[in-house]
Amino acid sequence: MKRVGIIGTGSYIPEKVLSNFDLEKILDTNDEWITTRTGISERRVAKNDEASSDLAQVAAERALAIAGITPEELELIVMATITPDTHCPAGANWLEAKIGAANAVSFDITAACTGFIFALSVAEQYIKAGIYHNALVVASEIMTRTLDWTDRETCILWGDGAGAAVITEVENDRGILSTHIHTDGAGGDTLLMPGGGSKTTPISHESVDKKLHTLNMIEGNRSFKVAVRRFSEACEEALSYNNLTLDDVKVIIPHQANLRILQGMAKQLDISMDKIYVNIEKYGNISSATVPIALDEAVKDGTIQPGDLVLLTAFGGGLTWGSSLIRW
Ligand code: UT7
Repeated sequence: MKRVGIIGTGSYIPEKVLSNFDLEKILDTNDEWITTRTGISERRVAKNDEASSDLAQVAAERALAIAGITPEELELIVMATITPDTHCPAGANWLEAKIGAANAVSFDITAACTGFIFALSVAEQYIKAGIYHNALVVASEIMTRTLDWTDRETCILWGDGAGAAVITEVENDRGILSTHIHTDGAGGDTLLMPGGGSKTTPISHESVDKKLHTLNMIEGNRSFKVAVRRFSEACEEALSYNNLTLDDVKVIIPHQANLRILQGMAKQLDISMDKIYVNIEKYGNISSATVPIALDEAVKDGTIQPGDLVLLTAFGGGLTWGSSLIRW
């Protein structure tokens, strides 16, 4: 059986910082509430002239440089995003042109906050099947453009950024041990962007007045509880599939939705928070991009060393959830 591994990671975070104190000036909220309820202190905002593929381009070029792969050597680009530059063509196609990956086929995956794990799973299968050899898996989001800035329960959570990984065949027992992905379409209406699709087009004054194009979060505390359960189940599934335990894992890289969700997961799995990588205070929730950004940071700050067992896990709109266990 072929083993597929990550041979380079990269990320890009826009420069502009939007702090909780900045939000205090435009919303009925305060730093203390946001920090205590979510763990977020600030988030980043893309420049007006930046689209998701621009953020993805920088992340991808950084990952390619580390992998030692040229854009022309890529055969596949799978981009996770719920904020593509355009709905047609796919965000991945804009990226393919920008990085000059003329020999790659490219397409998008819509799986909200679990998008990177879905994209990794898809790209992994193509390489395992011997169809392609070098693939770029990238997640990029400009969530700040989807928000209703008067909805204080939702808009305080999100930010912008991109993360990428180059994957190929690897040897010596390293690489992706398994990837597990799940959906529950019946729960999809708890976190959605109702407008912009065939249900609501053509876009009208009425649809804009009703803010149908913005991200809606219905009963955030209900999805909070589901998230804790699904994050934990996804970790347990990956470990039991590989006959491993949490003691074998060096670090869990989870989707960064809310610090309290991660604390709930730690409690449910009976592990210390030291085993869970957290950077939510700096960036907030960047949907699909949080996992590859945290992965890249954990590699660069030395948290992840060769041979370590790394567990990725995510939960998000759709509903979607999943995990991937990787021997680094
Ligand atoms: O990426 C994966 C998908 N994401 C999620 O699944 C999000 C999961 N949910 C959450 O992270 C949390 O539920 C929230 C952060 C959205 C909300 O936190 P909470 O602890 O569940 O708060 P709550 O909704 O129960 O609201 C508590 C109070 C309410 O006031 P009352 O009714 O108790 O008087 C809210 O109106 O906090 C109020 N509130 C705020 N106050 C200050 C809600 N948002 C704010 C705010 N600032 N920004």
